[in-house]
Amino acid sequence: MTSHALVEMIHSLHFKPDEFYSLSDFHHPVDKSYGRNKLYSGQNFGIFLMSWAKGDFTAIHNHGQTDWGAVVLLGDVHHRLYDIRNQKLVLTGKNVIPSGTVAPVQGDLIHAMGNFDDKPSMTLHIYGSNNHLEIPGISSRIFELEKNRIRTTNGEAYINGIESSDEYKAGIETDLYFNLSFR
Ligand SMILES: [Fe+2]
Repeated sequence: MTSHALVEMIHSLHFKPDEFYSLSDFHHPVDKSYGRNKLYSGQNFGIFLMSWAKGDFTAIHNHGQTDWGAVVLLGDVHHRLYDIRNQKLVLTGKNVIPSGTVAPVQGDLIHAMGNFDDKPSMTLHIYGSNNHLEIPGISSRIFELEKNRIRTTNGEAYINGIESSDEYKAGIETDLYFNLSFR
């Protein structure tokens, strides 16, 4: 499987938001910064439905050992794209991804997503591995700039998350002058 082939397959399936609403989790606990519902675990892939009420957002994160995958936009979401340049994390893109988009995902994609609008939104995420990992998102990295550290999780990207298995590494910074150019 490849991300490209997966995106093509999903386009042919014509998913509709109403088909997923009963699986949503807009009323997640307050210590989770968005709704994250695992729908399926295969031998080397996982499928999740994320729910975005107004104000829900992820931390800045990558996707661990994901070799191929896709995100299906079942509603509009706000998106921030990042890159590491000169050992600093910098913002490189800022947009709203419209409903109906199917975007490829791989492990080194660094981004944050969420919803600032009153209208709730959902996204469907498929993360796959070439190495028989049931949850390829495992070892996802959370870039906690405000704490100058990187947190490694089992795939969750909650803001200020404190999963028991999380590990920490000090020393991530941002480039203030680069990021100011996005104002
Ligand atoms: Fe993500």
